[in-house]
Amino acid sequence: MTSTSKPLSGQIALVTGATRGIGRATALALAGAGAHIVATARTQGGLESLDDEIRALTGEPATLVPLDLSQPDGLDQLGLAIHQRFGHLDLLVHCGAVLGALTPVGHVEPGLWDRVMTVNATATYRLIRSTERLLKAAPRGRALFVTTGRVARPKAFWGPYGASKAAMEHIVRTWADELETTTVRAALIDPGAMRTKMRAEAMPGEDPATLPDPSEIGPLMIELAQADLGQPDTNVDFSAWRKERGQPASA
Ligand SMILES: NC(=O)c1ccc[n+]([C@@H]2O[C@H](COP(=O)([O-])OP(=O)(O)OC[C@H]3O[C@@H](n4cnc5c(N)ncnc54)[C@H](OP(=O)(O)O)[C@@H]3O)[C@@H](O)[C@H]2O)c1
Repeated sequence: MTSTSKPLSGQIALVTGATRGIGRATALALAGAGAHIVATARTQGGLESLDDEIRALTGEPATLVPLDLSQPDGLDQLGLAIHQRFGHLDLLVHCGAVLGALTPVGHVEPGLWDRVMTVNATATYRLIRSTERLLKAAPRGRALFVTTGRVARPKAFWGPYGASKAAMEHIVRTWADELETTTVRAALIDPGAMRTKMRAEAMPGEDPATLPDPSEIGPLMIELAQADLGQPDTNVDFSAWRKERGQPASA
C-alpha cells in the first residue's frame, strides 16, 4: 500500500465505544488508513473480535483497553497508559454513549438520569482532562466527538439523552475555544440515523435496512483526522457531507 492509501500511517488513535456501531466502524476505517488503534468499551469479547478484524485487515494488533466510561479513575489510567506507551495521542474519536430510556421527563428514574449524564456528559470532560496533554504532545492533535441532531431538535421522551448530549456539545465547544492558540483541534460530528444497536433501541419499529451502515462514516472520520479544522465551533453534519459528495441520502 502507498502512503496515500495509508494517510494516517504511524498515528495513534484512541476510539471509545469501539465494540459496536459507529465506534467499531470508525476503528476499522482508521486502522485501514494506517493508524494504530487504542480501542475502548466495556465488553472484552467485543474488543477482542475488533482486534481480530484489525489484525486480518492490517496485520497489526490494536491496543485494547476495557473500561467503563462512568468510572473516572479508568479514564485517568487510560491517559496515563497512553502516555507511558506512546508519549502522545494524534487522534481521539469519542463514540461511546448510552441512550438511557425514552421516557417523559417527569417519569425519568433518578438513577437512569445520573447514569446517562455520567456516561455521555461527565465522561466527555474526564476524557478531555485525561487526553489533552497527550493531544498537545502530537504534531497536530485532533479530537472528534460524536453528537446527535437531537440537541438542536428536542423531542418528547428524549430528555436524558438530549440533555446529556447538549452538555457534551457545550463542553466540546468550550474546550475548542480554549484550544485556539494550540495545534490541537476539536470537532463535533452528527452522524444522523445509522444502523446500530442504539438506533434500534430508540426506534424499534424502524426497518434497519433503510438506514446507512456505520461503515459509511469511515471516510469522513479519515478526512477529519487530517483536515485543517476551523476553530472554534466545528460541527460536521454527516448527511450534508455525503450530499456534497453526491452520495445518496440513505442506504
Ligand atoms: N446510531 C445512530 O443513529 C446515532 C445517531 C446520532 C448520534 N449517535 C451517536 O453515535 C455514537 C455511537 O452510537 P451507536 O449508535 O454506534 O451506539 P451503539 O451501537 O449502542 O454503541 C455504543 C458503544 O458505546 C459503548 N458504551 C456504552 N456504554 C458504555 C460505558 N458505560 N462505558 C464504555 N463504553 C460504553 C458500547 O460498548 P460496550 O457496551 O461494550 O461498553 C458501544 O461500543 C453515540 O455517541 C451516539 O449518541 C448515533
